[in-house]
Amino acid sequence: MIPTLEWTSEGVRFLDQTRLPLEETYVLAKTYQDVADIITTMVVRGAPAIGVSAAMGVALGARHSTATSLPALLAEIRVIGKVLAATRPTAVNLFWAIERMRRHAAELAAEPGATVATVKQGLIAEAERMYNEDIAACRALGAYGADLLPQKAGVLTHCNAGALATCGYGTALGVIRAAVESGRKIDVYADETRPFLQGARLTAWEMMKDGIPTTVICDNMAASLMRAGKLQAIVVGADRIAANGDVANKIGTYGVAVLAKEHGIPFYVAAPWSTIDLATKTGADIPIEQRSPNEVTHHAGKQLTPNHVGVWNPAFDITPAKYVTAIITERGVLRAPYPESLERLSHEAAVPA
Ligand code: MRU
Repeated sequence: MIPTLEWTSEGVRFLDQTRLPLEETYVLAKTYQDVADIITTMVVRGAPAIGVSAAMGVALGARHSTATSLPALLAEIRVIGKVLAATRPTAVNLFWAIERMRRHAAELAAEPGATVATVKQGLIAEAERMYNEDIAACRALGAYGADLLPQKAGVLTHCNAGALATCGYGTALGVIRAAVESGRKIDVYADETRPFLQGARLTAWEMMKDGIPTTVICDNMAASLMRAGKLQAIVVGADRIAANGDVANKIGTYGVAVLAKEHGIPFYVAAPWSTIDLATKTGADIPIEQRSPNEVTHHAGKQLTPNHVGVWNPAFDITPAKYVTAIITERGVLRAPYPESLERLSHEAAVPA
């Protein structure tokens, strides 16, 4: 399995996604500040991977804490959570994971006989539990999603919602992996995903590693590919799904969804329950990260545009729920009306790791 991130005795080890596909190198985070930096610089990226990385960051920060009392440790964990929460604003998994760790720390501290050491140990165990749950969720939603795909299909995906974006297996790419494992013949088309090229670099790398036939297209080729009849489904991931079913995902997803509707192609969103944010009513309420103009004006250190030109570089867009054929989660496949289906499945128990 692709080792996206891993808890080790020295710290958290990350596969450096900024260097893929040409170099497979690893970065070791020894402090929670290192983890925050690694999330900000996108050494690790993808909503579920960001969430579990932050959980491990909290566990790492707690382990190194010099607090001698439980209240002091809990106060330090709140500070650590704030630093990690300030890294990237759109993926709700980040805030979900930090809050789960904070709550777990408080519960552990309230246990009879609790000590600073038992809380620290319990937080490491909780982060590892979240890691395993994420893989289990990907496998479960992959199996649900595979059943939606025809026996033979061209499937377009945008950005990277694969093993690299999760703790393993992937969401959109998990659906594709499960479909291939079930004997379906899938031709993957990967949008290159300007400007960070997660599709061309990461999705293509993962799929080639698994021997799944994959073709990279530039983002502006998707319409022609649909018109040529090459696509039978679109499957993408999500950074946050609002209570009404609006989906935040990598910039460009919205355009693909509109095109899919025009061409009568089903548009599926695959995400674990940790990406669903029922506290956010609609897509309009989701904060969209703006990234450095440099990502657009430069490529591989080379300037592409004239000096001082204006740049707009939102990292994500919102796909209105009306374009989403189904949302595939580990709890099952949801259909419109999403306010009702999301609310109904929110009461289901989590899939065990
Ligand atoms: O900016 P990124 O690379 O973190 O954006 C990632 C995406 O948009 C993914 O599609 C999303 O996080 C889902 S990952 C399973």
